[in-house]
Amino acid sequence: MPQRSRAVVVRGDTVIKLYEIPEEALKEYSALLSIYEAGPKHFRVPKPLAIKEVRGRTVIVMEKVGGTPLSRYVMRAARGDREAIRSLFFVGRALRELHSIKADLPRCRAAASRTEMAHEAVSSLEWVCSDGVRALLCGLLSRYLPKPEYFLEVSNEVFFDSLIHGEFYPSHIFIDDDSSTPVFIDFGFSCIGPAYIDLAMFVVSVATGAPALLNAGLEGARTPFLLGYFGSLPSRLDLSLKLAEAYIAVRVLRDSLLKAGGGIDRALQALLALYFLRVASKRGELRW
Ligand SMILES: Nc1ncnc2c1ncn2[C@@H]1O[C@H](COP(=O)(O)OP(=O)(O)OP(=O)(O)O)[C@@H](O)[C@H]1O
Ligand SMILES: [Mg+2]
Repeated sequence: MPQRSRAVVVRGDTVIKLYEIPEEALKEYSALLSIYEAGPKHFRVPKPLAIKEVRGRTVIVMEKVGGTPLSRYVMRAARGDREAIRSLFFVGRALRELHSIKADLPRCRAAASRTEMAHEAVSSLEWVCSDGVRALLCGLLSRYLPKPEYFLEVSNEVFFDSLIHGEFYPSHIFIDDDSSTPVFIDFGFSCIGPAYIDLAMFVVSVATGAPALLNAGLEGARTPFLLGYFGSLPSRLDLSLKLAEAYIAVRVLRDSLLKAGGGIDRALQALLALYFLRVASKRGELRW
């Protein structure tokens, strides 16, 4: 993840986001404006109000939005709560609509084809796994990684180009308390890139954000989200999704390890990603 230097201030009905790097502010503002002006039916975004210079910093002003954070629904969905399951379905449907919006945004830097992804997933681990605890974690991880050839057999259906959110985590999603409409915030990483990034990041972040889910059943939250997105879930598609999820989990692990020396939180993230991979690979469909 690139380092970002920003601050968010709530003032009345508005939210002010201050950037050190003007290009980043402009990028987020353009994405928000394109999405807002597209007038989506299945989700809302904050209305962008202004972009301006304030004492040497670039500032975005937008509408303050609200609702229940999606994270509150995740465990409930896993336990079979119908309202929570419906909310996750709505989030999937809304993401599909976001992905269909036409916008003139830059391409994502990490928009790799699946073959390149395989190479990155495998080769980047080699130099991460150099010493001590890292080597231990990587040794464990290698037991759950697919063989590189396996990547070539997987269908490409979640790799189509879309307008993606870029950080599609539960913490950037609210559910409107009256209408149950999903509300998306933080388009700082929005770009044109493969759809799997949002789909897989969502599932992996749900898993790493709520470890208890892995026992309660990640599928309880994952399935309604994916059904909302795809309408149905043919097994061929599910295989390609699980590959994308495993790949994103590897990236979480890699980022955590690279930033290690950096506290218990990151080590925990790495372990959770690892555990997630293990659970994912135990599900019958992943035959590596
Ligand atoms: N338009 C908004 N309406 C209401 N709350 C908002 C809005 N924008 C941001 N927030 C609140 O501020 C927090 C940080 O905003 P945002 O994610 O856009 O900034 P960030 O710099 O990416 O922060 P982080 O790194 O924590 O994600 C959000 O998690 C949310 O709680
Ligand atoms: Mg954010």
